[in-house]
Amino acid sequence: MQEKKTFYITTPIYYPSDKLHIGHTYCTVASDVIARYKRLCGCEVMFLTGTDEHGQKIEEKARAAGVTPQAFVDAIVEGEGGIRDLWKLMDISNDRFIRTTDPYHVAAIQRIFKRMYENGDIYKGKYAGMYCTPCESFWTESQLVEGKCPDCGREVRYAEEEAYFFRLSKYARRVRELLLGGEFLEPASRVNEMVKNFIDPGLEDLCVSRTSFTWGVPVDFDPGHVVYVWIDALFNYATALGFENGRYDDYARYWPADVHMVGKEIVRFHSIIWPAMLMSLNEPIPRKVFGHGWLLLGGGKMSKSKGNVVDPVVLANRYGVDALRFYLMREFPLGSDGAFSNELLISRINTDLANDLGNLLSRTVAMVEKYFGGALVEARRPEPLDGELIGIVSSLKGKYEALMDSFGTQAALEEIMRAVSRANKYIDETAPWVLARDEANLPRLASVLYNLIETLRVSLTLLLPFMPGSCEKAFAQIGAGKDLTSWEKAGEWGVMPADAKVYKGEALFPRIDLKKELAALEALREAKAGVAETPAEACAAKPAPEAPAQEAAQAPAEPDCIDFSEFEKVKLRVAVVTGCEFVPKSDKLLKFTLDTGDGAERVILSGIRKWYPEPQALVGRRLVACVNLKPRKMCGVESRGMLLCAVTEENGVETLRLLSADEIMPGGSEVC
Ligand code: MSP
Repeated sequence: MQEKKTFYITTPIYYPSDKLHIGHTYCTVASDVIARYKRLCGCEVMFLTGTDEHGQKIEEKARAAGVTPQAFVDAIVEGEGGIRDLWKLMDISNDRFIRTTDPYHVAAIQRIFKRMYENGDIYKGKYAGMYCTPCESFWTESQLVEGKCPDCGREVRYAEEEAYFFRLSKYARRVRELLLGGEFLEPASRVNEMVKNFIDPGLEDLCVSRTSFTWGVPVDFDPGHVVYVWIDALFNYATALGFENGRYDDYARYWPADVHMVGKEIVRFHSIIWPAMLMSLNEPIPRKVFGHGWLLLGGGKMSKSKGNVVDPVVLANRYGVDALRFYLMREFPLGSDGAFSNELLISRINTDLANDLGNLLSRTVAMVEKYFGGALVEARRPEPLDGELIGIVSSLKGKYEALMDSFGTQAALEEIMRAVSRANKYIDETAPWVLARDEANLPRLASVLYNLIETLRVSLTLLLPFMPGSCEKAFAQIGAGKDLTSWEKAGEWGVMPADAKVYKGEALFPRIDLKKELAALEALREAKAGVAETPAEACAAKPAPEAPAQEAAQAPAEPDCIDFSEFEKVKLRVAVVTGCEFVPKSDKLLKFTLDTGDGAERVILSGIRKWYPEPQALVGRRLVACVNLKPRKMCGVESRGMLLCAVTEENGVETLRLLSADEIMPGGSEVC
């Protein structure tokens, strides 16, 4: 049997000093998506994440909290709601989790440090320079930006200490070649930055021990020195596989790493210092470092939330883990920076997930139920119109794989969403509710619905790395078991059985009322700024489309004013006219059949015959309907809703005109 190809991917290990926010989650979700994708492709994946627990900052925070550094990090990493819990919540599929305080890692770092000391690449000297405490980095004068730390922009201070140095300068040429080789560091734009800013000005030896604090890996042959936190941290990628320790024995199998996924501000450590140290130890160099961009708030990094809720726990609990994962990967390419705001997040969920994907799923399932009792019939009738959709879906997997193999996660999602949109348009074009009126059209109707189910099967399989939980639930709704949703089958058309069965389930991505939800988040933030809110309360709150509105500003009330909450009870939707005719025995009524986005057609009677003497001419119009009026029977026909009209005067005569919606609005769009 052929051995599986291995794939080793890592995230950075996180500082357990500040609460992790949505920006940290971005980095881990991106890595998780790639890891899941590679598993689906058949690779034997090792996916590592963990925590970077040493250093002066942690020591200081623990002191301020009145606990030992170990107790401090234990609580943040392992405690309830800690980092491990966060990754569980976010459905992160890491195979291993390393803590740099794990005894096997500490012992391995001591051995590694000694090896480099013994081979002459680490030597003792004296350090004098500018030191940034939060970043735990020494900088030369030339590296400072306007006298401040080039990484975080904060004040630096002059510091002097006896220290060990690593001969980074000795490896400058080889690292430069590695970087310019073209494969090692991506995106390519970061290569120039590294070479120009750090290597060409002259790479100085690196200070790799500290004596000013004790919370670190002790240099065992020189008490008083602890290993520089970045040396301790970078080697996690190797020690977690068993390098220089007996805890694991996967080093030979997985090393060198296939990709280190890291944020752009730590590319320097990963693409210069890390390979140089591996060169010193004669160990293979990782195949790739991918420097992703930042999720920005109002143009800045995320330390201050600037009017937005950035706690991933709150966001995941309100909108669902998968919706959050999807959003993070959908907005902008991995290598670039992109803006984050609660509004962008909610809008994206509404457009892509509720309107496009969720709607396609619920409409398809509802139509198979309504027209075929939940199981398609075998007889089918293809038509040329099907070709475009089938073509798009059949070529989807190939395009997607090419993009994912080069970390084009956003573009891959775009391809999927294009197929989903095409399928929604296909519903409008084929008008299943019209086909359903005539028994002779049932084979054609079965064809149409089958094509929709196939589109869903392929799209959902390819979405698995992004939204694993929701895709499994959606598979259950379209009756696609494990054998039908394998990776290979995503490249084939016609996989579902002709008598496919569906099972109606929960709406996977309910639409969120943007205005109400932003107000609720704001209230949450305000409560947080005060004392009232606890994390549990924040998590319990779900966005409820029907939730009572916030009280409006206190303007003097008009006598016939209604509350906003009363107004909101009226559900208005865009309604596409699929049929319109006179009602026999009535000289007032028109009978409309409409697509209001709920999968089956809706009948509404309207007393406007006088103003619309040619009902057929109304087919295709996009109107506005109230869809939650109590059903009412008139002339033997049940009417479920009301169409909105405006009253005007033409030549002194009262005239009614139906209200229209914009052409780009699909049937069912919420009017708010
Ligand atoms: N401990 C080091 C990494 C050592 S790896 C050997 C560290 N930790 S961190 O917790 O500060 O950051 C971890 C990762 O989160 C980094 O890749 C960083 O870029 C990423 N992010 C933190 N804020 C971010 C955004 N706002 N947006 C995207 N990623 C961000 O650095």
